Amino acid sequence: MYQQKPLNYSENALEPYISSEIINLHYHKHYLNYLKKLNELLNSVGYHESYTKEELVSHIDEFPLNIRGDILYNLGGVINHELYFDSMSPSKASMDGKLKDQAIKQYGSVENFVDEIRRQANLMVGSGYTFLVLNSNKELEIIDFSNQETPYSYGLIPIMALDLWEHAYYLQYKNERNKYIDAFLKIIDWNQVNKRYEQNI
Ligand SMILES: [Fe+2]
Repeated sequence: MYQQKPLNYSENALEPYISSEIINLHYHKHYLNYLKKLNELLNSVGYHESYTKEELVSHIDEFPLNIRGDILYNLGGVINHELYFDSMSPSKASMDGKLKDQAIKQYGSVENFVDEIRRQANLMVGSGYTFLVLNSNKELEIIDFSNQETPYSYGLIPIMALDLWEHAYYLQYKNERNKYIDAFLKIIDWNQVNKRYEQNI
């Protein structure tokens, strides 16, 4: 059984950017449902946890063909949500460390880099996520994936995730997704994102 990852902050800590009602539902209902379904699927084939969740993505071919899609979907739902919740913090830390150097190298400035995340997020059609990933050359890429696809399936290492499913913002922002995106950009936990960057380069 894979265990739920605790939130690093209280449910109301991200207000006014993201309401406690949204965080409560998102964490306890949406995220935990993916975890529950993943564990049920894995139990149904007698799997005993031996891979990390990230490793499981690349070992999906060890499972029966008829449930691979379901496993991958729910596994993606777990991995993506855990990264999303870990991408935010009430601390409002500014970008620093090697990530900042690389962002300036690739995008010219921190402001341009953040603008590019905003631009990419606003391009998302339907349900999905905008990710900040490391590609195989250890360069930064900002990329959208639909539904619960995980960048690990494509050999990319995600270090930041922005959930763009309606459940992530609709209760508070209704149809104004762009305002939710702007709010998210103000509460990114750049300390943690930088840590993940430095661990993977
Ligand atoms: Fe979500």
